[in-house]
Amino acid sequence: MSHALQLTAATASKAQRYQALLAALEGILAGERNLIANLANASALLYASLEGLNWAGFYLYDGAGLVVGPFQGKPACVRIAIGQGVCGTAAARRETVIVEDVHAFPGHIACDAASNSEIVVPLVGPRGLLGVLDLDSPSTHRFDRVDATGLEAVAARLIAGSDW
Ligand code: SME
Repeated sequence: MSHALQLTAATASKAQRYQALLAALEGILAGERNLIANLANASALLYASLEGLNWAGFYLYDGAGLVVGPFQGKPACVRIAIGQGVCGTAAARRETVIVEDVHAFPGHIACDAASNSEIVVPLVGPRGLLGVLDLDSPSTHRFDRVDATGLEAVAARLIAGSDW
């Protein structure tokens, strides 16, 4: 198989894994709109389903800044200001931020020294910022646009399926 074909196959299977993850998320959300329950189970699903993670979870916007919410991984920094770190940057920009090497990202907040790459998806509802979804990996270059697309779909489903 050519290198290009291998890449295409890898991308397709990764996208398919996100389809399976989204189907599992539907099961978790079925008949339940409690925010903490849904975010807790979503963080467990992400952490168990995606390989190569050391942290997966949520920071919630309290009207002033981000406060840690349900997650899987080691205990994390509790509060992050809007505009600070990868999480605060994604929240301020209202767009997904992929950091291939956290040590090269100015202002990265090191909660777990094992983290080397990170992706943060902002959670934005009809009335504005709700929080962020944050995934960390011990590998550099762990996250790409396929992850961004899949995680943005997870975020959209959680926003629509929970009472914020
Ligand atoms: N690294 C993040 C902080 C949160 S932890 O990774 C869980 C940041 O720079 O915003």
